[in-house]
Amino acid sequence: MSTGLPMTVTDPALPARVRIHEVGPRDGLQNEKTAVPTGVKAEFVRRLAAAGLSTVEATSFVHPKWVPQLADAEELFPLVNGLPVRLPVLVPNERGLDRALALGAREVAVFASATESFARANLNRTVDEALAMFEPVVIRAVEAGLKVRGYLSMCFGDPWEGAVPVERTVRVTKALADMGCDELSLGDTIGVATPGHVQALLTALNGAGVPTSRLAVHFHDTYGQALSNTLAALRHGVTTVDASAGGLGGCPYAKSATGNLATEDLVWMLDGLGIETGVDLAALTATSVWMAEQLGRPSPSRTVRALSHKES
Ligand code: HMG
Ligand code: MG
Repeated sequence: MSTGLPMTVTDPALPARVRIHEVGPRDGLQNEKTAVPTGVKAEFVRRLAAAGLSTVEATSFVHPKWVPQLADAEELFPLVNGLPVRLPVLVPNERGLDRALALGAREVAVFASATESFARANLNRTVDEALAMFEPVVIRAVEAGLKVRGYLSMCFGDPWEGAVPVERTVRVTKALADMGCDELSLGDTIGVATPGHVQALLTALNGAGVPTSRLAVHFHDTYGQALSNTLAALRHGVTTVDASAGGLGGCPYAKSATGNLATEDLVWMLDGLGIETGVDLAALTATSVWMAEQLGRPSPSRTVRALSHKES
């Protein structure tokens, strides 16, 4: 395997350091049809931590019938809980929070939608009913001293409703912020955003009183825009970027969602810009090659493919 790294040329307009919020074990795996053994998932989390990722979203405490792949959250979480990394987990409601607290989770994430169609498909609720479901979760989690992330899906476009007006996304993001979420992750669930739209949303959120320091970006790469959108967000001052090792991913309740921005593609760009991440690209690529073997198909990440290409 090549251990290639890009040449570094810095850009003073960009942040010096970025925290990568790795979502491979959760967003990456949640859509896999065949059950991935719990031991393989735990090893995936361990390898990601060893590759230098400081935050690894481990699993979801959702209804097992809704996301069967993550039905083993109770078995998995104790296997990884001692690792020296942040291990956020998704919780949709108080039942999910109870399950996460019982296992000693220190970080949770609720997940709202900017659109009614996705709120119904993903949470069986209207947008406002879902916000009402999250409120006691956020309040109790904050009281218990947990860090709380608020995801917002369909921030840019929705497979049923088309383009999503910026004001609609701002309203729901602001509601999550006011509820007490420490961090808001802006999800382009179906990967339709382009850089100008990203810039417009970030500016509108700042105008509504949500500072950039509380914002993270979460791009799926359906139309190949995830890296350019990330660069637009970095230029705006965002320093937390979600990505999935090997480009795994999708959402079981949004059929047009493909994988997330691949963590390797992100690290290649950030390394080239001299932006610190703490991630060892060779170790991360080896992890995704290993995971691709477990899943029985090659990684869709361009960087994983380029770095693992064997010269003949
Ligand atoms: P519901 O059917 O409306 O649930 O589902 P309910 O509140 O009516 O309860 C029905 C039964 O489910 C009850 O049991 C509850 O106890 C049980 P019964 O009393 O009938 O025996 N129940 C649970 N059991 C275990 N754990 C729980 C739980 N909650 C209720 N947490 C619900 C509502 C929210 C539960 C369901 O819709 C759900 O689980 N949805 C999760 C969907 C999901 O995980 N989607 C993927 C993550 S989001 C995503 O990928 C997007 C993101 O990546 C950002 C982006 O890309 O945009 C984050
Ligand atoms: Mg996602």
